[in-house]
Amino acid sequence: MGEMEDLEVVECTRCPGLAECRSRIVNGVGPADADLLFVGEGPGANEDDQGEPFVGRSGTVLDDALRTAGLARADVRITNCVRCRPPDNRDPRREELANCREYLDREIDAVDPTVIVTLGKVPSEHLLDRDVAVTGEAGDTFDCPIAGETRTVMVSVHPAATLYDRSQETTFEGTIQRAADLTGAGGQSTLGSF
Ligand code: URA
Repeated sequence: MGEMEDLEVVECTRCPGLAECRSRIVNGVGPADADLLFVGEGPGANEDDQGEPFVGRSGTVLDDALRTAGLARADVRITNCVRCRPPDNRDPRREELANCREYLDREIDAVDPTVIVTLGKVPSEHLLDRDVAVTGEAGDTFDCPIAGETRTVMVSVHPAATLYDRSQETTFEGTIQRAADLTGAGGQSTLGSF
């Protein structure tokens, strides 16, 4: 299978409800060989509009934290558990996550990242396949079997959490810095532990 086929879904109607509502399929962005792969929940209105993950307010929070850690958005890969916007910003349903899982697995396999950072509860629980208390586990890494390989998964709070709870900002920035440190990318941490 070609590289683009591993990374880009061009046509899919596995979730009829989502296929009907979406403007487009939102594929991952960033280098096909990135060390750091961020996995969000699913496209929101801005992402559905622009065809790129994390381009709304959450994206600005992520970009800022990356910059603080000495990284640019262009250095990392960013994708989502589901590639079509769930209507009314509801969480993706179990069957929608399952329908899209093959695409995520294929992307993880192709990119072969050093660290996968799960942004929020939905992607954390989806990849780790258990209940996750994201605030308590933020910055922790876990060995996780994904598509036949053991991957390093780091739990993070969702960037949007920092918008309604300022105390989450330190947690989020600390997690991104820790992920950058693990890949040897960006500047070394001046934040210490959090
Ligand atoms: N939140 C997500 O989980 N994913 C996006 O792409 C944007 C916001």
